[in-house]
Amino acid sequence: MTYDVVIIGAGAAGLMCAAQAGYAGKRVLVIDHAKKAGKKILMSGGGRCNFTNLATTPQHFYSANPAFCISALKRYRPEHFVELVERHGIDYVEKAPGQLFCADSAREIVSMLLTECAWAGVDVRLATRIEAVERCGEAMRLTTSMGRIEAGVLVVASGGLSIPTMGASSFGYDLARQFGLEVRPTTPGLVPFTLSDQWKARASELSGVSLPVTVSTRLKAFSEPMLFTHRGLSGPGMLQASSVWFPGESIEIDLLPHQDAQALLRHAREQTPKRQLATWLMDHLPRRVAQSLCEWYPDGQNTQPLAQYSNAQLEVWADRLNRWQLKPAGTEGWRTAEVTMGGVDTQAISSKTFEVNGLPQLRFIGEVLDVTGELGGHNFQWAWASGVACGQAC
Ligand code: FDA
Repeated sequence: MTYDVVIIGAGAAGLMCAAQAGYAGKRVLVIDHAKKAGKKILMSGGGRCNFTNLATTPQHFYSANPAFCISALKRYRPEHFVELVERHGIDYVEKAPGQLFCADSAREIVSMLLTECAWAGVDVRLATRIEAVERCGEAMRLTTSMGRIEAGVLVVASGGLSIPTMGASSFGYDLARQFGLEVRPTTPGLVPFTLSDQWKARASELSGVSLPVTVSTRLKAFSEPMLFTHRGLSGPGMLQASSVWFPGESIEIDLLPHQDAQALLRHAREQTPKRQLATWLMDHLPRRVAQSLCEWYPDGQNTQPLAQYSNAQLEVWADRLNRWQLKPAGTEGWRTAEVTMGGVDTQAISSKTFEVNGLPQLRFIGEVLDVTGELGGHNFQWAWASGVACGQAC
């Protein structure tokens, strides 16, 4: 079998790329080892797929080569994908500023992409194993469970390592190394933190409680909700922080974001001196969190009136509230991570066509590359934009 373009991975980037190449008149084949196309799309956004973010800019991405994503993101913008979604009659909602989700189900996005592929004449072969890839003159040759395939251009859209049970594999990284490309170290991103025994038990008691916080790592701060879980800390703020956290480091959590706890406490001591600190905490934090803080830091006096607190004692409490230090034990890892940080080094890849420099018959798109977005629809926007740029250039 011979195709102009063979794409490995029937995920977000691969299907988008396939449709574009098909519309450009190419004979296109998409191969995936999974039995279903777009498995990660189906499970994304809690089954509703946060398919783009209207505020996507290159600043929302991590990469050793931050300029790499600019060209594709500029050429294919969130409004282009929204136009596609609207053309297919898919209802959507803006859940948080700029974050667009399907109103009904992520299945609609997969079905839209498969429809586009069908209209563009793309062959999609699922449950197909790739055994070997080699260069064959100007073309690429694949040995697969469906036989030998010759490809004028081979596009690798095999994604990252997160959620191995959903079909994630190291295929793209292994192939990149086979052709002499660098792969930057891969770590799980957008993943909940785990805590050590004492703090794990404490978080577990509060499991299900969420509150707005600002969480800071050495590199970056995020003002988004935090969720206590049975294993540790999750919620958008913690997922974001995990992408820029390094094992062994502490994180700092501001439980009263944008408020000066010390000033508030001093003011309360002046205005309501008979009030207990525990009661004051309950007015400013979810009740269960306030109660737990008093248990964790008994200080022997949380039931005393505020009037009996010295400035130094209030300062200690203000520190706990505005600068609570925690050292995560780790993260939940690939099992629950939404994305892979790192990946195929972009230095050797064209940001216009996504071809490997000096080997135009081999291309990499989507999450397999060392380009990873923040939470909120940016990762899909990267998959669409890189897929379109590559598909149009095939
Ligand atoms: P993707 O992973 O989508 O596709 C890769 C494909 O390659 C898969 O179909 C896989 O089976 C196939 N493949 C892998 N190895 C292969 C091999 N050896 N042979 C053949 N095929 C192979 N992003 C976002 O913007 N908004 C959101 O709401 C979410 N939510 C979300 C939730 C969860 C639980 C996860 C895990 C991830 C998200 N994401 C997200 C991230 C988003 O899903 C991700 O960035 C994109 O799917 C990446 O698209 P790709 O096409 O690059 O890879």
